[in-house]
Amino acid sequence: MNVLVLHGPNLNLLGKREPGIYGSGTLADLNRMLEETARELNLELKIFQSNSEGALIDYIQQAAEWADGILINPGAYTHYSYALRDALAGVGLPVIEVHLSNVHKREEFRHHSVIAPVAVGQIIGFGFDSYLLGLRALKGLLDKWQ
Ligand code: DQA
Repeated sequence: MNVLVLHGPNLNLLGKREPGIYGSGTLADLNRMLEETARELNLELKIFQSNSEGALIDYIQQAAEWADGILINPGAYTHYSYALRDALAGVGLPVIEVHLSNVHKREEFRHHSVIAPVAVGQIIGFGFDSYLLGLRALKGLLDKWQ
């Protein structure tokens, strides 16, 4: 089973970016943990980060060719990118939306996700564990649907 993992804008700065909110681990640390969990779950991952909405959409469109599911932290695009939402809806793959921080405890503009209606579910507020739990949730879904 193949999974596309997408990190949206500014997640390349993990470790340096607002560590009080996002922690001190880097994106490389997170990707290592994802690969470890994927090995345990027998999943193949392709992992990408981009600061650009268009590049994220390109990855999503290409995923239709090979992926069984998508795990995505859309970063700030979560809150307003209809283009990202349409791309996810368009490929028709199961999507799990994750966030490191509990967005509902933060500024008002972070309380709304335009991605949530096209996702199977969201996992929010557990730091790196949001992604690892998300991967397990996706694996559970794919096993059930197989
Ligand atoms: C985030 C939350 C978003 O509101 C923010 O813009 C991010 C990171 C998170 O993982 O907590 O870039 O998606």
